[in-house]
Amino acid sequence: IFPDGRRNARGINLNVSSQFKPLMEDMAPFFKRDYSAGPLVGFDLKDQNGERHDVICPWNHGHTIGRVRWTSAEETSRAIDVAWKAFPDWNDTPVEKRAAILERFADLMEKHMPELMAMCCMEGGKLLPDGVAEVREAVDFCRYYAARAREIFEAPTVLPGPTGESNELIMQGKGVFATISPWNFPIAIFCGQTVAAAVTGNTVLAKPAEQTSLIAHRVIELLYEAGMPREVVQLLPGDGATVGAVLSSDRRITGVAFTGSTQTAQLINRSLAARENAPLPTLVAETGGLNAMIVDSTALPEQVVKDVVASSYQSAGQRCSALRVLYVQEDIAERVIDTLKGAMAELSIGDPTHLSTDVGPVIDEDARKGLQAHIDRLKGEGRLIAETAIDADIAANGTFVAPTAFKIDGIDALETEQFGPILHVATFKGSEIDQVIDTINELGYGLTFGVHSRNETFANRVASRIRVGNVYVNRNIIGAVVGVQPFGGQGFSGTGPKAGGPHYLLRFANEKTRTINT
Ligand code: NAD
Ligand code: ALA
Repeated sequence: IFPDGRRNARGINLNVSSQFKPLMEDMAPFFKRDYSAGPLVGFDLKDQNGERHDVICPWNHGHTIGRVRWTSAEETSRAIDVAWKAFPDWNDTPVEKRAAILERFADLMEKHMPELMAMCCMEGGKLLPDGVAEVREAVDFCRYYAARAREIFEAPTVLPGPTGESNELIMQGKGVFATISPWNFPIAIFCGQTVAAAVTGNTVLAKPAEQTSLIAHRVIELLYEAGMPREVVQLLPGDGATVGAVLSSDRRITGVAFTGSTQTAQLINRSLAARENAPLPTLVAETGGLNAMIVDSTALPEQVVKDVVASSYQSAGQRCSALRVLYVQEDIAERVIDTLKGAMAELSIGDPTHLSTDVGPVIDEDARKGLQAHIDRLKGEGRLIAETAIDADIAANGTFVAPTAFKIDGIDALETEQFGPILHVATFKGSEIDQVIDTINELGYGLTFGVHSRNETFANRVASRIRVGNVYVNRNIIGAVVGVQPFGGQGFSGTGPKAGGPHYLLRFANEKTRTINT
């Protein structure tokens, strides 16, 4: 399984083996385990024999990794009862105690890194570097939110007032939060939302994506080991139409922190709004993007292509931040496209446990079919620029999609996000730059964006006019770091506040002003 390649045959992944070798040895036993998961709740589960779903490895369809028992609608309602009752005491728990649990949880995730990486690789199809990044980001979220929670919650803000009166602003939890997460960051985003809601004094019902329930189950076991009470954070694996729909329609849910597709966020928003006699809810939604990069004629083609390949094909393009549309000024378009074709020919697709692999599988057969239909349509229109070859045996054994690049006229030719390794390339004349920016803005998505230029005035102007959450200049557009690049979009891409940013926790809290006549 683990060839000790210092570089792959074509020299893409340089020097990673020395870094990963000790981890790989520790990971080995976890590839052989038979995993099982189900709800983790604060009441006695009667039906341990409910419907079970096999979990198949996305890059080795012959391997059933384990089984998951999905939570029923009735169990979801009972979990809400438990969370509702537990809220007042948890909200009164000193922030120091809540923050310390997050820090112990972070330590435990670091300790169990090989196991969590192996699970990310098997259940989520993640490459080893992506697995490391996944655990690291989750750890960063825990430590960052623990530190921010202490700053915000430890002591009330003392406000001025007349003699004989004291005024204070106090921060408290809001109530019961549902945290609903996607499969593409099964530890980082799943943990980030859940610990943010809990550290701010809310009780939490965590619903992981169907595709990554085994990972979520293991992560919540570690959270309990760190001291999180079972009735404060409960895990409800299951499908969106059952568990998700019950959560978003129950009047006791005070807020939902959702990450996933724009369509599902809109469904949840409607469902929350349709509840009768329910207090006004909080919705934090982090959704999809149709992310673009503009490259002008002063940019360095080799640097551009390196950043385009990372942005479009790393994690098999299954990042909300991934690049979908590259706009290249026509003066350098031929050179950029030729270099891109060369780089794509060098990519190696296959088994994520091989250090030489650049692109792993997509998550499941539904995803593969949807992406392949888009590829077939654009091929049929004669738009193909390049496609990386996949070995037929590898393709037959998993849900792989070949990295492709297509020529399009503009971003407005695309209606929705294609969540995989598909890049679209458009060209523009220097005089058309404002039109290009307007077209990107008018589409209404606003997550990530890149600009490559050695003309500082051009880069600054483009970066300033584009309406997105995260702008990157002269680099790739993925891999935001907690506390360094707070992450999140606007418009169809999300409500804010930004995950991993200084204001994130505030959306999970109520402000209470206390005035005392002394
Ligand atoms: P998805 O919308 O299909 O599912 C996300 C979650 O919503 C899952 O847990 C699912 O079970 C649940 N769900 C589905 N229907 C529901 C319903 N009716 N009520 C409540 N919950 C429901 O998204 P996905 O395929 O898991 O993830 C990929 C998407 O996530 C992409 O669009 C990607 O851009 C987006 N994403 C955004 C960010 C960000 O930070 N902006 C980060 C990662 C992923
Ligand atoms: N935070 C993730 C990234 O920036 C989604 O790629």
